[in-house]
Amino acid sequence: MRRVLGGFVAVLWSAGLAACAAAPPPTPTPSDPLALGQQVFAQYCAPCHGADGEGFVNALDAPGLNADSEAHLLSDEAILTAIIDGGAASGGNMAPLGDALSEEQEAAVLQYLHTLWTDDQRAAHEAAGGHIP
Ligand code: HEC
Repeated sequence: MRRVLGGFVAVLWSAGLAACAAAPPPTPTPSDPLALGQQVFAQYCAPCHGADGEGFVNALDAPGLNADSEAHLLSDEAILTAIIDGGAASGGNMAPLGDALSEEQEAAVLQYLHTLWTDDQRAAHEAAGGHIP
């Protein structure tokens, strides 16, 4: 009887392990552009533009990029130029990130910025020709 019970417990135990192995926690993968964009934003933009794109988080006074800002009025081209070239050409303080980021990362963070805006702001952005498909 004792051996039978032990075997039963062993079966339950291994079934439990199998259940754990079958359900790994979801992790964002860089192959998902939005997850990649969020990761790039957190690492490269948030230090100056704020974790939520709220802006004005340090002495450089970087503007907001979220729905409380006017960022949606910029074209995608202007945003990409800012990311790649920084602010030096216009006498600004933004760091040029063209060398630090791959084209895939630049496109992903641009796409992520769109998600910080409201539906109306996204529509206005696209109506102004801002969206590069
Ligand atoms: C070193 C600080 C810094 C970092 C890092 C930074 N920015 Fe900026 N950003 C600024 C500042 C400051 C400005 C205001 C213009 C200027 O002074 O160059 C700005 C302006 C901008 C603008 C507005 C450009 C315009 O034409 O009005 C956009 C869009 C922008 N940043 C996006 C980003 C994105 C996206 C990232 C990350 C990939 C990023 N920035 C990283 C400091 C930064």
